[in-house]
Amino acid sequence: MAKRAAVTGVHGYVPDYVLTNEELSEMVDTSDDWISSRTGIKERRILKEKGKAASDMGKQMLSGLIEKTGIDPESIDLLICATITGDRVFPDTANTILDKCGIKSAYGYDVSAACSGFLYSIYAGAQYIEAGNYNRVVVIGMDVMSSIIDYSDRTTCVIFGDGGGAVLLEPSEGGNGIQDAVLKADGSGRKYLYMEAGGSYKPTTVDTVMAREHYVRQDGRPVFKAAVSGMIQTVEEIMKRNKLTNETIDWLIPHQANQRIINSVANSIDFPMEKVTMNIQKYGNTTSGTLPLCLWDYEEQFKEGQNILLTAFGGGFTWGTVYLKWGH
Ligand code: ACO
Repeated sequence: MAKRAAVTGVHGYVPDYVLTNEELSEMVDTSDDWISSRTGIKERRILKEKGKAASDMGKQMLSGLIEKTGIDPESIDLLICATITGDRVFPDTANTILDKCGIKSAYGYDVSAACSGFLYSIYAGAQYIEAGNYNRVVVIGMDVMSSIIDYSDRTTCVIFGDGGGAVLLEPSEGGNGIQDAVLKADGSGRKYLYMEAGGSYKPTTVDTVMAREHYVRQDGRPVFKAAVSGMIQTVEEIMKRNKLTNETIDWLIPHQANQRIINSVANSIDFPMEKVTMNIQKYGNTTSGTLPLCLWDYEEQFKEGQNILLTAFGGGFTWGTVYLKWGH
C-alpha cells in the first residue's frame, strides 16, 4: 500500500474579542437581520491586543498542537503557513512562529492563496511525507483579516474574522490520510477580490493610504457565483475519480464564506446538512483559517477511516477539493 500522510493532530485558536452583528450595526449601515440572512454570520473574533500579529496566533496554534499531541518540538521537519495577513510582506510568518516557539530543527514558508491556502498547503505538506523526505509536517491556516478590512465598508466588514488552526501530518501505515486533491486557479479572477496597494504593483504612498487602497475589495456577486460552481465542480470530480457517493462520504468540510454557498454545494450532491461542518455563525470568514477551525471544532465527531472532503474557494481565484481518510 502506498505511503500516505495522515492528520494526526489538530489545534485551533481564535482571539477573545467577539465582534457581534449588533456592534457592527452601530459602526456601518447594516443589521443583524441582513448579515444573518445573507451570510449566516452572527459574530466573529478580532485580534485586538496592541502589538499582536499573525505569528502570535500561530504560536498559540503550534504550541497547543505540540502539547496536545505530545510530540518533541524538535522532531518537526517543516512548517507551512497559509496566510494572506502575515506579520510583514517579508520575512515570512512561518519562521517567525517557529522562532516564537523556540524550534530550531524545522524550516518554514508561507503560502498565499487566500481562502484556498490551507487546501494548497495540506496537499503540499502531504507530498513531502509521501515522498519519504519528512516525518512531521505542520500546516497552519490562519488570517488576521481585521488588519486589512475597512470597517467603514459594509460590503466587506461584516464577513471577515480572525483565527485559524494547525494540523500535524505524519506517515500513516494503514492507508488513512490524504488520498487525492483537485486544486485549481484562475488568475483572471483577481479583479473581483483583491487588495489594491502595498505590493510591487502599487507600493505604499500617502496617496494609496488616503485612497483606502490597503483594504480588501470584493465584488460579491461574481465571487459568489464562481465559488458555488468552483466548489461543486471539484467536489464532483473528486467523487467521480475516487468512486465516492453522498453515502460513502462521511463529512463535507466547506470553506466558511457564506452559508448560502455552503447550502448550494451540499444540495448539488444531495448531501445531508447534518454531515456538513458549520461554524460560520461564530467565526465568520477567517480566510485561510476556516478549514482547520472546522477540523478543530468537529474532531471529536470524526472517526478513524472516515471519508472527509475539504473544499474551498477564494481570492485569486483559487479553489479545490481535498479528499482524506481521517487518521486518528
Ligand atoms: N448590510 C446591508 N446591506 C448591504 C450590506 C450590509 N452589510 N452589504 C451590502 N449591502 C447591500 C448592497 O449595497 C446592495 O444594495 P443595493 O441593491 O441597493 O445596491 C444589496 O445589499 C445587495 O448587495 P449584494 O452585494 O448583491 O449582496 P449579496 O446578496 O451578493 O451578498 C455577499 C453579499 C455576502 C458579499 C455575497 O455576495 C457573498 O458571500 N459573496 C461571496 C464571498 C466569498 O465567497 N468570498 C470568497 C472568499 S473570501 C477570500 O478569498 C479572501
